[in-house]
Amino acid sequence: MCGIIAYSGGRIAESILIDGLKRLEYRGYDSAGLAVARRKKMTVVRAVGKVSDLEKKLARRKLAGHYGMAHTRWATHGRPSEQNAHPHGDCQGKISIVHNGIIENYQDLKEELIAQKHVFTSQTDSEVVAHLVEEYFDGDLETAVLKTVQRLQGTFGLAVMHADIDRQIVMVKRGSPIIIGIGENEYFAASDAMALLPYTEKIISLNDDEMAVLNAGGYYIKNLNNELLEREIEICAGRDYLADKKGYEHFMLKEIFEQPEAIENAFRGRLVEAEGVSKLGGLEPVLERLKNMKKLIIVSCGTSYYAGLLGRYIFENLTALHVEVEVASEFRYRKLKMNEDTVVLALSQSGETADTIAAIREAKRKGALILGVVNVVGSAIAQITAAGVYNHAGPEFGVASTKIYTSQLVILTLIALLIGRYQDVSYNEGSEVIQAIKKLPKQVEKILADMEHVRALAQAYAPFEDFLFIGRLFNYPTAMEGALKLKEISYIHAEGYAAGEMKHGPISLIDENFPTVAIVSQDCTFDKMLSNIQEIKARNGRVLSVASQGCGRVRDVCDDVIWVPETLPLLQPILNIVPLQLFAYFIARERGCDIDKPRNLAKSVTVE
Ligand code: M6R
Repeated sequence: MCGIIAYSGGRIAESILIDGLKRLEYRGYDSAGLAVARRKKMTVVRAVGKVSDLEKKLARRKLAGHYGMAHTRWATHGRPSEQNAHPHGDCQGKISIVHNGIIENYQDLKEELIAQKHVFTSQTDSEVVAHLVEEYFDGDLETAVLKTVQRLQGTFGLAVMHADIDRQIVMVKRGSPIIIGIGENEYFAASDAMALLPYTEKIISLNDDEMAVLNAGGYYIKNLNNELLEREIEICAGRDYLADKKGYEHFMLKEIFEQPEAIENAFRGRLVEAEGVSKLGGLEPVLERLKNMKKLIIVSCGTSYYAGLLGRYIFENLTALHVEVEVASEFRYRKLKMNEDTVVLALSQSGETADTIAAIREAKRKGALILGVVNVVGSAIAQITAAGVYNHAGPEFGVASTKIYTSQLVILTLIALLIGRYQDVSYNEGSEVIQAIKKLPKQVEKILADMEHVRALAQAYAPFEDFLFIGRLFNYPTAMEGALKLKEISYIHAEGYAAGEMKHGPISLIDENFPTVAIVSQDCTFDKMLSNIQEIKARNGRVLSVASQGCGRVRDVCDDVIWVPETLPLLQPILNIVPLQLFAYFIARERGCDIDKPRNLAKSVTVE
């Protein structure tokens, strides 16, 4: 969602800010803007649309200032427009602010400020911050910001600057990430380390209720009681992953092709073959509590939620646990029974998803042990959870999650195996799972090698406007994830259903214009899936099947088949989803969609 980049130093700020905005584009946004100050004058330029639209506006003027801030906005309060784009300013045009998060009490504050004769120019919640700082400013920006944040309810990652205070930028964080970058006599700040990596690897991630003050001669960090803090500088080792498509047309395609490596990274060093078990260093501190847990609740959103649904089936297979899976946005309002025997496991690529954060905070309050499976190291969820496992899959830039999904499934299997071996899973069963996991990267490579077949099918199916995806057992969540991939990037209506549910409603939609994607595996549901496909064929529905190689009879009943290698039923979804990712990708490409940044979507959903 929204992104922040700020700079203070000896270089011209504008080009660094624009470059930073481009690195934040993958998060999703609908307008962008920047503010640069020079010789006590603040210049603000904003544009609806892409960063390139902002650049076009900037081409008409040269901004020579050495400190400034920029923002990509994903609209929450007020439609995407130039007035609503950040930075926002005060009445005198001296102060600029950029804000990520939501100011929940903005209405009350706005009314109070309007009564004090402040003039607002946007419909955003964020603008109140600029006017509050103006209200409290008497020459000391830091104090004005401290007073301001005491009035704010909600979440914020904030940057504030004043035209009269050369090269000073004040950053504050509560619930929305702020990372400080330390260069040679120059300082950066951003909401995402990706924006800083070309300039410096030395970073400090602000904690909640901390403030950083960047100045011409240095920086310092304080808490909101105005006490100086000693914070260690971390080295962010992500430079290899700088946003580069490495010759692929889109990040999504690159990330689909990175899956063999991402899967390998998920299990590397985590398999103990001699004992038929997994070893997860991140869970060792809580192993005793894990051995005694009675109930597991998985919470997550979107693709991570579908990984959670599969997690339930995996845990049911390998452990004796009672497992529930909840959409994070519902979880916090439910009256779920939880105590110290309950483990709540959050799945999240970004580690920033607001709904998932709210859910685990609620679970923590109820005494549950909170674990995370997170890709972004040091992210908010990684910090809140008691223990967890990192994906180590490298950054995912495409809005449509691909490699993290398959990586999450591997890690869920490893966690289930770890617990299952303390329960009923035998050494032989554990070894069988381990051997099958080790084969996955090569099997995914084989599917990817058949890309041209999927591309040809995608061309044939691209004109349809509706799709049904069906599967049973392990393939049911796969059907939902396959449908999500197609709808989010191609804007085609697609529904994922348990195949057995088809005759309870959706079958009435079937005709020659409503194709079905059926996911079929050689497991106990095979014959029933064939019957469901025949029911669709009897109603003139076209059927494309994703089938594992042992399912030869599928050929006789379907119009088209994508074959995938066979593995254990509980791992089969890791293979089955890969051609569905490619299918969605090529259909979206065929239809000319903006694949890496689909309309209305954001990579990190930081609002509830
Ligand atoms: O970062 P998270 O895994 O917590 O994100 C959850 C969802 O927002 C995310 O999976 C979303 O559904 C993707 N666009 C799916 O491709």
